[in-house]
Amino acid sequence: MRPLDPLSSIKMKLGAVIVAAVAVTVLVVSVGTGAGASPVVSALAAGALSLGLVQLLAHGMTSPLREMAAAAKAMARGDYGRRVTASSHDEVGELARAFNAMATQLAEVDRVRRELVANVSHELRTPITSLHAVLENLVDGVEPADPETLRTMLRQVERLGALVAQLLDLSRLESGAVPLQRRSFELRPLLDDAAGETRLRTTDVRVAVSVDPVGATADGDPARVHQVVSNLLDNAVRHSPAGGTVELRATRSRAGVTIEVSDEGPGISEEEKSMVFERFYRSDSARSSKDGGAGLGLAIARWIVDLHGGDIRVEARQPHGCRMVVVLPVVKA
Ligand SMILES: Nc1ncnc2c1ncn2[C@@H]1O[C@H](COP(=O)(O)OP(=O)(O)O)[C@@H](O)[C@H]1O
Ligand SMILES: [Mg+2]
Repeated sequence: MRPLDPLSSIKMKLGAVIVAAVAVTVLVVSVGTGAGASPVVSALAAGALSLGLVQLLAHGMTSPLREMAAAAKAMARGDYGRRVTASSHDEVGELARAFNAMATQLAEVDRVRRELVANVSHELRTPITSLHAVLENLVDGVEPADPETLRTMLRQVERLGALVAQLLDLSRLESGAVPLQRRSFELRPLLDDAAGETRLRTTDVRVAVSVDPVGATADGDPARVHQVVSNLLDNAVRHSPAGGTVELRATRSRAGVTIEVSDEGPGISEEEKSMVFERFYRSDSARSSKDGGAGLGLAIARWIVDLHGGDIRVEARQPHGCRMVVVLPVVKA
C-alpha cells in the first residue's frame, strides 16, 4: 500500500508524514486527557501510534529504493528481466522509471551481443570445419597435396580473413574509432574505380557508369564512399543474370548526391527490405549458395552512410531487379 504515491515530491511527502504524526499526537493526547488518563500514558500512546503511522506512510516511499537495489543486484548477475514498481510521482518514482528504461535497454544490448557471438561463431565454424576436414585427409594420406586441394584451402582461409576483416571494420565503425576523413571529391573517378574493380571479378555482367552533371562532386570520406559503392556493386553483380547489366548512376541535386546501383536480378522482397541491412542477414537463396559473404556488406554500408548523415534504401525495379539508393547530403560550410 502506498497512500502517498499521488504526491509529486519527496518534500511534500515528508511534510505529509510530519503533519499526520502531529495530528495523531494531538488527537491521542486530547482524547486521553478528556478520558482522564495520566499525561505520561497518553504521551506514550501518542508516540507509539504516530510511530506506527510514520512506518506505514514511509514504507511506500522507500520500497522502490529497496526494489531497485535488489534489481541492480540481479542485473549484476546477468538477469535483466526485473522491473521496479514506478507508481509514485516523486523523484523516487522518476528514478524508478529511468531505472526500468535502463534495464530494458541493457536487456536489448545483451540480446544483440548474444546473437552476435552466435552468428560470428557460426560463420567462423563453417570454413574452419572444411579446412579441418581437408587437412585431416592430407595428414592421413587419403588425399594428395595437389595444387587444387591447396587452392580450396586457400579459398577457405581467404574467406576467414575477409570475414574477420569485415567484423573488425564494423566494430570500428560502430565504436567511432575511425573518424571520417571528410572532403569534397569528384564522383566520376571514384565510381569508375569501383566499377573497374568489380569488372575484374566478373566476366558476364556489364557495369555501366553515368554521372550527371559530368564533373559532379560529393562531400564525404572518399575511401568510405568507395567501400559502399563496392559493396553494392558486388551484390548487384552477384544477383545479376548472365549477360545482364548493372547500372551505377550518380546525380547531383541541390540537397546532395544520389548514387544508385540497379541490377536485373530477382530483387529484394517487400518483407526483406528492412532486414537486409541487419548484420548477418542473408536471404535463404544467398545462404544456400556457396559464394557471397556473411551478410555484413550492407550492414557496413548502412553504418558508413549513417555516419555521413545520409540515407540508404532499397527500391524495386520494373520488370524485376533491385535498385539500391544512397543519398549523401551536402555539408554546409
Ligand atoms: N542486388 C541484390 N539483389 C537481390 N538481393 C540482394 C541484393 N543485394 C543484397 N541482397 C540480399 O541482401 C542480403 C545481405 O546483403 P549483404 O549484407 O551484402 O550480404 P552478403 O552479400 O554477404 O550476402 C544478401 O544475402 C541478399 O539476400
Ligand atoms: Mg554483400
